[in-house]
Amino acid sequence: MSIGVGLVGYGVQFGMGKHHAEQVRQTQGLELRGVYDIDPSRRETARVEQPGARVYDTYEGMLEDPGIDTVVLITPHDTHAPLSVQASRAGKHVITEKVMCLNTKEADEMISAAREADRALTVYQNRRWDGDYLTVLNVMESGALGRVFQIESSVNGWWFPAGWRGLKAQGGGMLYDWGAHLTDQLVQLMLPAKPVSVYATFHHGGHDVDVETQATVVIRFENGVAAQIDVGCVSHISRPRWLVRGERAALLMEGSDSAKIKGDLEDTSGEMTVAVEKSDWHAFYKNISRHLNEGAVLAVKPEEVRIAIGVIEAAFESGRTGQVVDF
Ligand SMILES: NC(=O)c1ccc[n+]([C@@H]2O[C@H](COP(=O)([O-])OP(=O)(O)OC[C@H]3O[C@@H](n4cnc5c(N)ncnc54)[C@H](O)[C@@H]3O)[C@@H](O)[C@H]2O)c1
Repeated sequence: MSIGVGLVGYGVQFGMGKHHAEQVRQTQGLELRGVYDIDPSRRETARVEQPGARVYDTYEGMLEDPGIDTVVLITPHDTHAPLSVQASRAGKHVITEKVMCLNTKEADEMISAAREADRALTVYQNRRWDGDYLTVLNVMESGALGRVFQIESSVNGWWFPAGWRGLKAQGGGMLYDWGAHLTDQLVQLMLPAKPVSVYATFHHGGHDVDVETQATVVIRFENGVAAQIDVGCVSHISRPRWLVRGERAALLMEGSDSAKIKGDLEDTSGEMTVAVEKSDWHAFYKNISRHLNEGAVLAVKPEEVRIAIGVIEAAFESGRTGQVVDF
């Protein structure tokens, strides 16, 4: 028997509705059964592009359908919490796109609603399966760097945050967008060590939008590591994607497809190239299917994503006050 999946949001900006449809269709044990978008023209597109899937005129219509077991929320950030709680209360499992939600209060409401309904809740943190992140994880776990004390993770360049991405009220801005991936990756790299304090600076400007166009966040973890996220769309010169400093060696990834370690390394001149791992975003949906069909452990646990939401929340507070925010 397959788990019936309904997609909510079939947007045009990055074709993410179509992306999720493809992922679901490729996953054994899952079946794409429905699509809903608030915009009738996107529903028409879904009708053409997703034959065999029912297209609903209302969200409630999808939630009332017993053939839909799981909804996937692929909508603007401010809608994730209310749509998620509504789906849990209707007895559906929920997969929400990143960012999980706007703050920890919303995260708690989502987690409680899912627990009360005894339904799954998870977040599409697909970048936990990015090749560059997996490379950092492997190198750190190998011990080659010695004791790691500093991590810099950056995504910046020059682009325009279009549509709702440029609107604060809808959860736009750098930190909720790329920042949602970078904070989640850092939390995963550090667990079980948790964040203890956050300091952040924000820049607004360079594009005609009401959100931050640059965010730099320093997170101290209880294991002593200081990690920095740097994310922005007004950067004429970018930082490397990753720089990880350990007491024995440091790892540099200028982009996502090359990696080198330099330092006190056995059998080398002190510098060596590292093979970059392959990305495997499909691992997310394979895990969902195994979780829902066979009871496997959920890879992306909402309680862990909530830690990253706490970092984002603390960063905005730090930006407002100019102070370090302790957890
Ligand atoms: N994980 C990734 O790699 C990745 C990449 C891109 C986007 N995203 C995420 O996907 C989500 C959507 O982004 P996007 O780029 O597809 O945006 P988009 O603007 O292209 O699409 C959003 C769609 O949601 C619809 N919508 C808005 N409110 C709705 C509601 N209440 N009910 C139903 N439909 C509604 C809109 O009509 C639109 O078609 C965001 O959370 C974004 O962060 C994730």
